[in-house]
Amino acid sequence: MTSGFSFYSQLKDRIAARTARVSTTGLGYVGLPLALTISEAGFPTLGFDLNTARVEDINAGKQVISYFPEDRIAKAIASGRFGATAESGRLAEADIILICVPTPLSATRDPDMTYVERAAETIAAHLRHGQMVVLESTVWPGATAQVVKPILERGGLRAGVDFFLGFSPEREDPGNHQYGTRDIPKIVGADDRHSRDLLAQFYSCIVTEAVPVSSSATAEAVKLVENSFRTVNIALVNEMKVALDAMGVDVWEVVRAAATKPFGYMPFYPGPGIGGDCIPVSPVYLSWRARDVGSETPLIDLARTTNDTAPDRIAGRVAVELAKNGGTPVKGARVLIMGIAYKKNIEDTRESPALYALNRLEEMGATCDYHDPYFPVMPLTRDHAPLAGRRSVPLTREGVASYDVVLVTTDHSDVDYALVAESARLILDTRNVFNTQDIPVAEGRLVKI
Ligand SMILES: NC(=O)c1ccc[n+]([C@@H]2O[C@H](COP(=O)([O-])OP(=O)(O)OC[C@H]3O[C@@H](n4cnc5c(N)ncnc54)[C@H](O)[C@@H]3O)[C@@H](O)[C@H]2O)c1
Repeated sequence: MTSGFSFYSQLKDRIAARTARVSTTGLGYVGLPLALTISEAGFPTLGFDLNTARVEDINAGKQVISYFPEDRIAKAIASGRFGATAESGRLAEADIILICVPTPLSATRDPDMTYVERAAETIAAHLRHGQMVVLESTVWPGATAQVVKPILERGGLRAGVDFFLGFSPEREDPGNHQYGTRDIPKIVGADDRHSRDLLAQFYSCIVTEAVPVSSSATAEAVKLVENSFRTVNIALVNEMKVALDAMGVDVWEVVRAAATKPFGYMPFYPGPGIGGDCIPVSPVYLSWRARDVGSETPLIDLARTTNDTAPDRIAGRVAVELAKNGGTPVKGARVLIMGIAYKKNIEDTRESPALYALNRLEEMGATCDYHDPYFPVMPLTRDHAPLAGRRSVPLTREGVASYDVVLVTTDHSDVDYALVAESARLILDTRNVFNTQDIPVAEGRLVKI
């Protein structure tokens, strides 16, 4: 009978030879770049996703993520080392299975682990001796051991003996051309020596550096600490913005100058709030788990409130600035929202503060249109379902001039801000885009909010 040690050494040899077959469960913003990076490192890689349309597009070599080099997917398919499937049975072929499924918030804004549970159940149905399973989705500390492991062990195989299990947080920054998946060190954690060793060996082949930590819970905590750090600092700079504004001081100039300090400071920039799948979500997973074990995270909770209320504050400022500039009441005002993506140059509206601000303004009686080159049509989002299907308006001089106010919520690069500067009656800029791009705006027509 084959022992745990021989499963370990067989997988070790396969990783060293790059013949270990890898499967990523989930081919979204995280799973797809990861799968491509793994195949580019020489491993035969099969992406598995329940979304058959996405699988077909990927297999056809289509550019499903706009900021990828145009031929990246097509090249990977042509290499013969990469493909996608919607057939869960093919997970049995894999030596290494990485889980990259969503971990959003539930309707009660608690951690929603159902995607992870379902993915683990699917893997469990095909689990065999000697496989390695790695959770990459952002979860609370302890989730790999307490949620995923029991599901995988239901069939009788034991983690660390019959199969290997660990956690490695995804640190993808969509649209970041300086740091792609390969350039970002990977934290790897597992609860037994063999799994830890295999994780470290595997990820060292994929990225510049694998950083082992002592347990899966430690690796899970690393991700939450990184994101909570951002949450707190973004809240801090948004608070600074309001206070400095009242003092007549430009927060962006302050941050730019402070960033020249070579130690002890890291710049964060104000904006309309936070969005995406990570920064608004991870701190919730951390504070939820802290409460679960009888602890508290008041600073993080306060930062969340500050960030969550930022879009309301922005909508309130729109009303005030309209009243100041010609006495236009917000009720009945026409507002052009520039950018519905949660950050620049990507096609992602999850938790986007622009949508919360848009909704708030319409509740206040304004009529809002939007312009976003990444979204000709407004996609369906959980909290803003009635907005789905609206269309991005074209950016023309007459069109822009017809709005009472233009509210810049996302600083996409591919937008004609000079046209906006020339035509808009009033611009409220939450991203400092006109100053950053050095675009002149007539006196009194630009307010940074
Ligand atoms: N997007 C980011 O910037 C980012 C960065 C770091 C970490 N993360 C984390 O990575 C994880 C994945 O996020 P994402 O942005 O890639 O999500 P995503 O929504 O872009 O993609 C998830 C994919 O998983 C598929 N899927 C869902 N359930 C499945 C199942 N049971 N089996 C197979 N496929 C399934 C979906 O169809 C979808 O294509 C989350 O935990 C997220 O918090 C995201």
